[in-house]
Amino acid sequence: MAGDKKQSGGFSGKIGFVLAAAGSAVGLGNLWRFPRCAAVGGGGLYLVIYIVLAFTLGIVMLTTDIAIGRSTKKSPLGAYSSIKKGWGFLGIFSFIVPVIILSYYNVIGGWILKYIVTFVTTGASKAAEDSYFTDFITGYEPILYMGIFLVLNAVIIFLGVNKGIERMSKILMPALLVIIIFIGVYSLFLKHEDADGVMRTGWEGLKVYVVPDFTGLDFPKLMKIIVDAISQIFFSLSVAMGIMITYGSYVKDDVNMNSSVKQIVFFDTLIAFLAGLIIIPTVFTFQGRDGLQTAGPGLVFQALPKIFNAMGPFGIVVGILFFLMITFAALTSSVSIFETITADVMAVTKKSRRLVTILVTIGYFVLSAVICLGYNKLFFNVKLPNGSSGQILDVADYLSNNIMMPLIAFLSSIFIGWVVGPKYVKKEMEKGGVKYRLYGMYYVMIKFIVPVIMLILLLQAFGAFSL
Ligand code: PFF
Repeated sequence: MAGDKKQSGGFSGKIGFVLAAAGSAVGLGNLWRFPRCAAVGGGGLYLVIYIVLAFTLGIVMLTTDIAIGRSTKKSPLGAYSSIKKGWGFLGIFSFIVPVIILSYYNVIGGWILKYIVTFVTTGASKAAEDSYFTDFITGYEPILYMGIFLVLNAVIIFLGVNKGIERMSKILMPALLVIIIFIGVYSLFLKHEDADGVMRTGWEGLKVYVVPDFTGLDFPKLMKIIVDAISQIFFSLSVAMGIMITYGSYVKDDVNMNSSVKQIVFFDTLIAFLAGLIIIPTVFTFQGRDGLQTAGPGLVFQALPKIFNAMGPFGIVVGILFFLMITFAALTSSVSIFETITADVMAVTKKSRRLVTILVTIGYFVLSAVICLGYNKLFFNVKLPNGSSGQILDVADYLSNNIMMPLIAFLSSIFIGWVVGPKYVKKEMEKGGVKYRLYGMYYVMIKFIVPVIMLILLLQAFGAFSL
């Protein structure tokens, strides 16, 4: 049976699965988006809201994906239709999201590798130059680095779930944790006096991060903080995009899913918190509150190199460690996307993992090269429904995260909550004789709360209203 075959090639046990799933969850979202959300969302206020939502809504969505995967032992394309005929379209939607995301995740992975090389060969000063990042991404070099990042992924996928993904996660995730704690502690001791003589410290930055700030808080602002936290949680936990279905399909039936899900959410939230502990005190010390508005590529490839440069000689070490850490985070995430696509293609074509890996790698080299050229020959600026504008990479990001993910989450909550019934998930969670204590919460959320929240996110993404 195909299912049995998959099990023998799956995760060896609970630790392997939890670390691999946490590896997928911990990614660029934790490192370059979460800190800004916290800084502009009222510091400790955002933290409390995020934690409460992660351990309720986040757990519910993660449980749903993982339970669908383990119960069907199928990748997303076939999983939904094997539970109920007529729902195969949801598998197709779930296939589209990782296909889009991988095309640009490779590109960003390549940018990160380039910065490691720059820091190692020329120190921090070059990367700190104003036009360094723009000059780099508008040239052809990003295609080379994207190719290297892609091949790194391909090697791991080629080796398989157990020997590739699990082994990599068991090494990279603890390493990432050590580095993040090290830089986090270091950032608390930073001190900097800016041009007009104002002195700021990492400790003061810590207060900006953890002390709740209620200034100007009214109902619309609170709603905005909550909605932002929800979309951050979704992206961060890699849910509603088929990835956790795929990883779930590799888990043995005797693994306790209850505690696994809680551990994955805990790990993901912990790393997001620690990322904030690095970014907020560091950026605050060197650039004040204004600097905290920056997130994404602008933060990692422009603001931080300047800061590492201003730190003096030790800034090179911190810079290299930082980019190494972000490589680990990006790699364990991109591998999960690559694996999902590979598993789907293997299921459809019935070809071997090795052949499919090679084909997917070639296909993505072309696709991601197009994304690289979005800053070069194929440059264009598109207006997005929420009022912002961007290039090919931003369009791909908007389509996958703002539109497809809430749509899939909405449909899958209707599917499990109303078509199949939440008992389906309860049965899966109780395999091996454990009691699913969170079932009451799961039931209410999947049936009533998740669909409403996802509809709100969707309407917002289509520009129906803005918070
Ligand atoms: N969860 C990852 C993050 O927070 O960066 C991102 C991610 C991983 C998104 C895997 C999509 C994905 F398929």
